[in-house]
Amino acid sequence: MNAVINATIPTKDDFLTEDVDFAEISSLPIDHPGAHDPAYRNRRNYIAELAANYRHDPTHRIPDVDYTREEIEVWRYVFTQLEEVQQRRACSFYLQAKRDLGLHADAIPQLRELSYKLNLFTGFRLAPIEGLVETRAFLTWLEKRTMLCTQYVRHHSRPDYTPEPDIVHEAIGHIPMFTNPDFADFSNMVGYGARIADEQQLIELGRLYWWTVEFGLIEEGSEIKAFGAGLLSSFSELENCFNPNVPKQKFDLRTVINTEFDYSMMQPVLFIIPSYGYLKEITKEFIGSF
Ligand SMILES: [Fe+2]
Repeated sequence: MNAVINATIPTKDDFLTEDVDFAEISSLPIDHPGAHDPAYRNRRNYIAELAANYRHDPTHRIPDVDYTREEIEVWRYVFTQLEEVQQRRACSFYLQAKRDLGLHADAIPQLRELSYKLNLFTGFRLAPIEGLVETRAFLTWLEKRTMLCTQYVRHHSRPDYTPEPDIVHEAIGHIPMFTNPDFADFSNMVGYGARIADEQQLIELGRLYWWTVEFGLIEEGSEIKAFGAGLLSSFSELENCFNPNVPKQKFDLRTVINTEFDYSMMQPVLFIIPSYGYLKEITKEFIGSF
């Protein structure tokens, strides 16, 4: 297991072996706010193509995106709106990590730069991807200490909502937490687990990922704070999760891996971990039983 935690940083050769299925969802779902906007679709496809080209580029230099003024305005709006809620609701590690990575409202960060910084913190890095990837393929990349990230921006008509990951969700929600060594090792472990899991175990790992990486809460002294990316990147989710009507349970692995989720709804229940170290250890034990 230690070999998994200490997995070496992937080299460019890892990207030349197409050992996972990059199952792109090329057409937008009908309820996507940009589904009927040809200019948006073209722009999204252009940025997605940069990610596809990256995998065939022998230098594997992550392409920078020349974001438009409209895209930067979407980022600025979400970043600014979230800032106030996050100060009250986000875990302290996240708030510090956002500063450490230099995230700010005036510019959409480039994955290349964030990947470089992450690597210095925990050996994690980022790789651009053109859309949703099936669960095993996505999670397996975590074993290589690599997080696949989209680079396009959600539709400007609904800055508060996206039915798919975008750079706003990745950079504001996910990326800062990868500077935490325990969180990074936990993610690494999930990646290893995804590679060896049978179909049922993969479903359980997907639920563990959902209730922690996406919608996890953590104890901080006498307070409960958010560390999940789905919470940190959405003001409605972040506010809703602290509603007293939303039950919050102490994290119990068996309960978590048996709790189904629906990505299209506000979360009806949330789980609180005592620490990132605990999450790492309990996951190690869980995957050790595969
Ligand atoms: Fe996510």
